[in-house]
Amino acid sequence: MTFLKILSQLNHVSYTDGTTIGNALGITRAAVWKAIQKLQSEYHIEIESHRSHGYRLVDPLIMLDQQFISGAINHKDVLVECFPSINSTNTYLQNASLKFSYHICIAEQQTRGKGRFDRVWSSPFAENLYYSLKVSLNKELSDLSGLSLAVAVGVTKALSQSFPKLDLKIKWPNDIYVNGKKLAGILIEVKAESNAQSQIVIGIGINVNMRKNDTVTQAWSSLANELKTYIDRNALAITVSNALITTLKAFEKEGFAYFMDDYHHYDYLKGKSISLSILNKEVVSGVGNGVNELGQLRLKIGENEQRVFTSGEATIIKR
Ligand code: BTN
Repeated sequence: MTFLKILSQLNHVSYTDGTTIGNALGITRAAVWKAIQKLQSEYHIEIESHRSHGYRLVDPLIMLDQQFISGAINHKDVLVECFPSINSTNTYLQNASLKFSYHICIAEQQTRGKGRFDRVWSSPFAENLYYSLKVSLNKELSDLSGLSLAVAVGVTKALSQSFPKLDLKIKWPNDIYVNGKKLAGILIEVKAESNAQSQIVIGIGINVNMRKNDTVTQAWSSLANELKTYIDRNALAITVSNALITTLKAFEKEGFAYFMDDYHHYDYLKGKSISLSILNKEVVSGVGNGVNELGQLRLKIGENEQRVFTSGEATIIKR
């Protein structure tokens, strides 16, 4: 992975010349030039090149640092793996056998990033956080309703503490929103292990330093867009890991009930007129009225009726 080594030699403040990079890595100036071209064309990294001064990154870039993340997680028995490129961090962990209490996989880019409802999760190189964690929980499948909301609460609370200027919300069941736009999504994939044990892969995609993306069709934002500054994804990965593991421990012991109050604090749909599309078949309109202790969405329909829903996709009706 020569191009990655070259990337680690570059910065956005000063120029580094091709000979210095070549000497540091034991390659020719021509090989450096070739790798720089690959970084520009395949990985869409903007690099300024100057005839005599060399190369400079147009934007700041801090690469993922597996050792740093691993050393800063304050829970025991955690394996962290970082990859420059992977099909999907969720798919990787689904196929990995669990040898630690928690197995975390993070990647600089995903070539087949998955979203909910079989959608593609756009995963450009080194811009965002593509993060998955695998765990085995002492729960039956039927006791896992509410887990995705609990995870959204845990992550949203941690992000709110790290970035107090942001007014974060949860759009049921587990999208994280800022200023009416999607900031992060969660995809949970579950497999029953035995009667009371389930293997769970929790995938979290957070838009971090992405400033433009022509492939995402829904309204989105990123931490950098909102905060007008570059965000270190290593610190973010540590925050997410610590919050997520704490959340999983609380969920295993107490279930979703423990997270209800916090959920209601972040509830984006509360009091809003929404239409809920269920399995792309039925569409129900109503007003969001929080969730019950199983994490099901409560919708007020008309004057006196209330219905609850286990799954679906909500769209806000603008008046
Ligand atoms: C959604 O809102 O549709 C869920 C998006 C989940 C994306 C993350 S990125 C890391 C992990 N790997 C995947 O392939 N998907 C999840």
